[in-house]
Amino acid sequence: MCGIFGTIGANCVTNTLLALHQLEYRGYDSAGIGVKTECGLQIEKSTGRVNALKVDFVAGKVAIGHTRWATHGKVCKQNAHPFVSYDGNFAVVHNGIVENYLQHKLALQRQGVEFASQTDSEVIAHLLAKHFDGDVATTLQKVCNMLTGSFAVVVATSRDDNLYAYKRGSALCVGKGKQGTCVCSDVAVMEQFASSVAVLPENCLAVLGNSVDLWVEGKHVEPCYFAPSHTDCDSNQLQGDAMLAEIFQIPDAVRQTYDYYFASGGLCLDKKQVNGYKRVYFVGCGTAYHSAMVGCSLLQRLAQMDCQAVVASEYVYDSFPTDKHTLVVAISQSGETADTLKAVQKAKRQGATVYAVTNVCNSSLCFEASFVKFVKAGREISVASTKAYNCQLVALTLFAVDFAHAKGRLSARARSRYLTCFDKVPSACKHLVSQSTAFALMAKRYKQAHLAYFVGRRLDFATAKEGALKLKEVSYLPSEAYPSGELKHGTLAMMEQGVLVVALACEKDLVDKCCNTVAEVTSRGASALVLSQYPVSPTSNQVQVVSLPAVDEIFAPIISVVPLQLFAYYFAKGRGCDVDRPRNLAKSVTVE
Ligand code: AGP
Ligand code: GLU
Repeated sequence: MCGIFGTIGANCVTNTLLALHQLEYRGYDSAGIGVKTECGLQIEKSTGRVNALKVDFVAGKVAIGHTRWATHGKVCKQNAHPFVSYDGNFAVVHNGIVENYLQHKLALQRQGVEFASQTDSEVIAHLLAKHFDGDVATTLQKVCNMLTGSFAVVVATSRDDNLYAYKRGSALCVGKGKQGTCVCSDVAVMEQFASSVAVLPENCLAVLGNSVDLWVEGKHVEPCYFAPSHTDCDSNQLQGDAMLAEIFQIPDAVRQTYDYYFASGGLCLDKKQVNGYKRVYFVGCGTAYHSAMVGCSLLQRLAQMDCQAVVASEYVYDSFPTDKHTLVVAISQSGETADTLKAVQKAKRQGATVYAVTNVCNSSLCFEASFVKFVKAGREISVASTKAYNCQLVALTLFAVDFAHAKGRLSARARSRYLTCFDKVPSACKHLVSQSTAFALMAKRYKQAHLAYFVGRRLDFATAKEGALKLKEVSYLPSEAYPSGELKHGTLAMMEQGVLVVALACEKDLVDKCCNTVAEVTSRGASALVLSQYPVSPTSNQVQVVSLPAVDEIFAPIISVVPLQLFAYYFAKGRGCDVDRPRNLAKSVTVE
């Protein structure tokens, strides 16, 4: 959450504003910029979008910028970053949470410092002023040593023309380019400003001037520069809503992910390693957790492995037996989700091996994992994850097939049959996205619904969870998912006119069970939308059936979610929602 950027040089203001537009997807509660000009540190802030920032000081030497997703303090102009120290000498932007901010705030207030905001971040600026020892770098190190929590901080100062940054727990990278040096929370955003980028290691202090100097615990370290790759599928370049554009990219993205899985060495685990694991945990958050559910279900089915899908934040705070015989498959589109990173760090401490499935090269997750499998979704901008989910499912399905084969539970013939079956998947996705108008009409038909339930069993339950999440996050319609069999244990009490039940039936042996569920809910007044690749006859005019293209059942979750993604999009549009920037959310959740 929060995007931070800082740069030095003649175009620093223009470049910072440009970067903030790119970073907006990380937080859009407010935006702010701080510029060191001839007249000192100038600050401009605004609630809402970067476009709302009115900046009339275009010339500057050093600039820092911020897009906020509020954790401490409501969404308002005073709480927007940057914050300036009481002596006017330091301007600070911050990503993360300073957990002991209150203790410092109270101490500073006792010493007469007045606070302008309710945020945790503001203490950093005042502490810099209070503890300034003549050297900004050593002062920043000293101040960061006083803070607990996880954070990335960038500081501009009236004392010199450098930028100072510190990274603990939240992502931060530095870059060098023709226009000067820069620092940013997002590697992808660096592409247009830097020809060389380096990800900061933990507890790293960076000083940016004409060059970049890094220190970790007082020792000078060399930045590990790489050339940032230019993203092939940049939704920023697309007209209209990124969410819709990203759904339309699914057919190509799943094909690219399949090809890249093999081009990058396939499973990457040999037989000995596979047989050494006694259990596998699939961890992730939100949509990535739903991918985890599918990966887990397939690995259980194909390899008869002892495995479990766990919400990353639960893995962190509960006791899941973990040792050197444990494989943790961590799934994250961004590779920056704090809960997922915490989960893998805990698993590693307990001896587990971490296998990452992520869409972002050089993300923090890549540095934590022993094995990394990239999904080739291309850059995903919309807060609601769509194409990255389909691609995660491709990678995890191939993982399950290859793992089962390496374990001796799946013959070479069966493996190659599955791989051949994948051929139908991109065209099935293409067929569904080409029907988008039909899903738009469907969304219109149910626009009066006041509540939605998504139901399914086994793999379909994961799809139901993803469908419900998608709908609620972009349209704010209350929607929940249940394993179909659970409805009668309480939730059936909610069924009445105005309730929409979306039922999935993509596994042949469960189609009749699904029809029973549909009968149970419609006889209580609810409407039902049934998605199946098998024939299902609507039993009343309360039931509408969506026929899905036929694919092998292990690949069904990749395609059956597409109508749900489109449905959520059109439903939200019908309600006038900002689909790409749902309220209260941000794309990258880098705080716990
Ligand atoms: C998806 O639509 C959500 N916005 C959210 O649940 C997301 O999937 C979750 O925050 C995990 O993100 P990650 O994949 O980047 O780790
Ligand atoms: N804690 C800071 C705030 O509330 C930064 C939040 C974040 O990084 O998401 O403004």
